[in-house]
Amino acid sequence: MRRVVRVLTRAPSNIALIKYMGKKDAANQLPDNGSLSMTLDRLCSFVELSIGAGTSDPVEWLPELPEGAPAHARVPELEGPGILKVRRHVERVREAMPSLLEAFGLGASGDGASRQPFVLRTANTFPQASGIASSASSFAALTLAVAFACARDPDGFNKIYLENKSLVRALAALSRYGSGSSCRSFEGPWVEWEGEETHGVTSGLPELRHLVLVVSEKLKRVSSSQAHLAVKTSPLWQGRVERATARRVSLKAALALGELATISRIAWAEAWEMHSLFHTASQPFSYWEGGTMDLLQWLAPAMQGDSPPIVTLDAGPNTHLTCLSEQLEHWKGRIQRDFPGISVLEDQPGVGARLVQVQ
Ligand code: DP6
Repeated sequence: MRRVVRVLTRAPSNIALIKYMGKKDAANQLPDNGSLSMTLDRLCSFVELSIGAGTSDPVEWLPELPEGAPAHARVPELEGPGILKVRRHVERVREAMPSLLEAFGLGASGDGASRQPFVLRTANTFPQASGIASSASSFAALTLAVAFACARDPDGFNKIYLENKSLVRALAALSRYGSGSSCRSFEGPWVEWEGEETHGVTSGLPELRHLVLVVSEKLKRVSSSQAHLAVKTSPLWQGRVERATARRVSLKAALALGELATISRIAWAEAWEMHSLFHTASQPFSYWEGGTMDLLQWLAPAMQGDSPPIVTLDAGPNTHLTCLSEQLEHWKGRIQRDFPGISVLEDQPGVGARLVQVQ
């Protein structure tokens, strides 16, 4: 068995069409309603974890680009509370790993490597806190990196990870404690999260492409943790769980049949409902910027076509547009012509968190 000294993992972000908004049990990170998302691919986070690399801190985060991450990736600006959240999550995963590994017939690192100091470097390939879920991708990549660092036989672990969805889902459940939406970034492209469980969802859709229309890169004023609490003060909260559940059931049926128009209609209604909850909270707040409304008004007529784009927003000002791959150039051209000032990030559906390298 070789001793792990350095691990590099990569996990994509995901975009929810049925939103996780509201917690039933905050201590266990259980959502009020089930959610359903599409896992992305290139919009992702990288985590490099080095073991025992000259620090006395049990977990040290360095604001440096991970070795092996693409040069265009950006190191997030983490401050005290953010670093503490990362540390706590590392300790949580490190503690849970021996019994999890054993449950899958795998051993924990016997030489104490998993108890030596960890040095972390992290980076995202997209702007931080601008409505692309960086906490989803970074906690998924972090959970996976710590898991590999704790394994006695990283190659054996990776083999089972790639073959056995139960191991993938056990890690996703652990990741949920770091950030809820991260549990949907372990597989793909379509993932449902309900209670403690995540699983893949069948899709009959043809090849898709994803565009993020970035109207603003400003940091969020209201964190999603605050938003999960605030939505319950809205008069529109009543009936929310039932409506989200009914939409999720209809969305799954439409996905299986590849009914794009139905999927698009459901996603549009769900995005508006989540943002309406924000706008009508007892202390109303909004993630939108002026450009958000311009884009939504511009997109509204397209919702009526036979193969409309799937449009949604996360907790941020930017609009997400998923379209048939054959329509990609059409949409890019129209956006460039009518909104020359906004930048567009391009992606596609992906497979979820993966090990990149282990030494
Ligand atoms: C708006 O997963 O960021 O992106 O569990 O408190 O970390 P915590 O919340 P988080 O919430 C994401 C909410 C959302 C919708 C979604 O992705 O489902």
